[in-house]
This record gives sequence, structure tokens and C-alpha cells, in this order.
Amino acid sequence: MTPAAIVEEILRTFRERGHRSYGERVTEQQHALQCATFAEQAGEPPAVIAACLLHDYGHLLHDLGEDIADRGVDARHERIGAHRLEAWFPADVVEPVRLHADSKRYLCWKETEYHAGLSEASRRSLALQGGPMTDAEAAEFERGVHYESAVRVRRYDDRGKIPDLVTPDLEHFRPLLEALMRPA
Ligand SMILES: [Fe+2]
Repeated sequence: MTPAAIVEEILRTFRERGHRSYGERVTEQQHALQCATFAEQAGEPPAVIAACLLHDYGHLLHDLGEDIADRGVDARHERIGAHRLEAWFPADVVEPVRLHADSKRYLCWKETEYHAGLSEASRRSLALQGGPMTDAEAAEFERGVHYESAVRVRRYDDRGKIPDLVTPDLEHFRPLLEALMRPA
């Protein structure tokens, strides 16, 4: 597949399934676009913007239904998404996607205010994901090459829950995704 065809497949997945509820009164597509837009506005490099757009791509790849965390199911969507994306994108896109649930567990360990500020839904999924990291887990996490960008993606992720916020559309991000694609 050419980079253009792969990006078209990704965008088609959003067009077909992006209307799913993310929870918290935004759809998956609104959530992804908001996260990517915040990263772009903050001057983040393209890989971080792409990671923001695609961090919940795994939510669009399973058929377990919407709001599965409400039913006590952890789909490990960060792994499903990263697994699909790693065939196409470099590690600086894929690893923050893989680590975005761990980043929440890390930030809950690091910052009491972060933990206290989590939304109800985020708190529920945190419990399913294993709760805040232990000291040993956090030390290990900080040894990872991509941990800082993963934590930044996480912070945009947490902000991308604003009903009816106007953002650029998916097409706006097409050239950025194509440019990041790994040569076949
Ligand atoms: Fe998210």
C-alpha cells in the first residue's frame, strides 16, 4: 500500500466509526481532533500531533461496543492501536499511543492534583488499567525513550473532551500523516 492509501484507510475508519461515543459527551472523532489540535496549537512536532490524533485508534478497531469501561471491560485499546500503527509509522508516533494508558497511571503517581482532577470515566478506566503506578513502575517508565512525549500526549488527551468545540477536520491532518509514514 502506498502512504496515501494507508492514510486513506485510517481516515475511512474514522469516517465509518468515528461517530462512536468516546464518553463524556464527545465522539471518538471529536476527541481525536481536539487532542491533535491542542498539540498543533502548542507547537508540538508532527509525530506528537499524529500520536494525539491516533492515540485511541484502537477504540475504532474493536467491536466490543461503546463505553466498555462502564461495563468493567478493559480492551487494551492502546495495544490494539499501536499494534496496527507500527506497521506504518515510526516509533515516535507509535510509542506514545502504546503508552497513553500507562502515562495516566504514571501521572497519577507523580501528581496528586492530576489524580484528583481525573474525570469520573477516566477514574473508572484507571482502576481497570491497574491504578496509579508504584515507585518501581514509575522509575521503569521514566527510563523509556518516549516517556516524555507520551506524557504530553496524555495531557492533550485529557483536555480533548469539550462538547461542540470547533476544530480543523480530518483532512487537515492528511498531509501530516502521509509525511510521517515509514517508507515501505
Ligand atoms: Fe483519549
